[in-house]
Amino acid sequence: MQALILAGGKGTRLRPLTVYTPKPVVSVMNRPFLVYQLEILARAGITDVTLSLSYQPDKIEDVIGDGSEYGVKVNFVTEPSPMGTAGAYKFAANAEGGTTVVLNGDILTDVDINHVIECHRGRKADATLVLARVDDPSRYGLVETDADGNILKFLEKPKPGDLSETSVNTINAGIYILEPSVLGLIPEGENHSFEYNVFPAILEKGLKFNACILETEYWRDIGNPESYLQAHLDFLDGKIKGFDLPASGASEIATAASVDDRSLLAEGCVVKPNAKVINSVLGPGVHVEEKAVVENSVIWGHSRVGSHVEMDGAVLGRGCYIGKNAAVRPGTVLGDKASIPDYSKV
Ligand code: GTP
Repeated sequence: MQALILAGGKGTRLRPLTVYTPKPVVSVMNRPFLVYQLEILARAGITDVTLSLSYQPDKIEDVIGDGSEYGVKVNFVTEPSPMGTAGAYKFAANAEGGTTVVLNGDILTDVDINHVIECHRGRKADATLVLARVDDPSRYGLVETDADGNILKFLEKPKPGDLSETSVNTINAGIYILEPSVLGLIPEGENHSFEYNVFPAILEKGLKFNACILETEYWRDIGNPESYLQAHLDFLDGKIKGFDLPASGASEIATAASVDDRSLLAEGCVVKPNAKVINSVLGPGVHVEEKAVVENSVIWGHSRVGSHVEMDGAVLGRGCYIGKNAAVRPGTVLGDKASIPDYSKV
């Protein structure tokens, strides 16, 4: 069994964090995001993993290396120009390799991939789509299935007024098991999408198209800043199980400062007297000056939070500077090297 991770998108929704760091390797709990995907594959005994790249491929290769640190063997395939999700699969997949597990490179999940493969094989499917249930279907394209788990149709985002007419609340979770028969539906060398082109073609051709619905597993697309921050808060809350999270590194925390037990601090952080760090994740070398309060936030490496700053629900990129007495309010997302003057409210 081989796996393909689609990791070539530009990650526009996660800007400004993805301007210098491609989405697949943004830091989540102080680890490159893709590591969580490599771990669920390794846990399922899938060690032959191809990363399909297009945007800033060198940065991803540098961070992930050959994969041996995570128990897999990683092979990189870089497209000459972005080929879309299905075009990337066609470009990278080896038809001789048989069944392929395809993952969108921006979903955080603890799903047991072997369970999905069993569901696929048990139903002798050409393609299996993992579906996740959502509370608010109006934000997503929905996937309708029958009682036997066959995929019937794809529905556009329902308008709020139409919601009472649909009981469907399952969406494409970005995890696919595909047989080589699907490759035949994708033209060579063209930009092609699973969602818009291939999945409708599978239904049209009458191939066996199976759904596997997540019921108890954790699932989240980390592709926008709100969801990216929420993934951290869920980790800190203990809602995501089974991953080897790093322990806090050696930091200089003043006796009169307070850092709660939930927070995660990488190596070399400095927290000055009377500063507070609550329910937050700090990357390496972050400085929090006197009497600053950092709560429910994620701060990438080597950023500095000035004295008396009040920060809640924010995400800061690498090397940011927040001037003294500034208020950094929920929803703030700053790109690398942003500098906020003293007393600002952002
Ligand atoms: P947005 O620009 O914020 O929508 O993000 P994105 O570019 O990542 O697009 P999207 O979230 O729709 O992509 C889903 C997955 O497919 C992500 O893991 C992307 O990295 C990947 N992806 C999207 N387009 C391509 C492509 O052209 N080539 C490759 N190799 N991967 C792609």
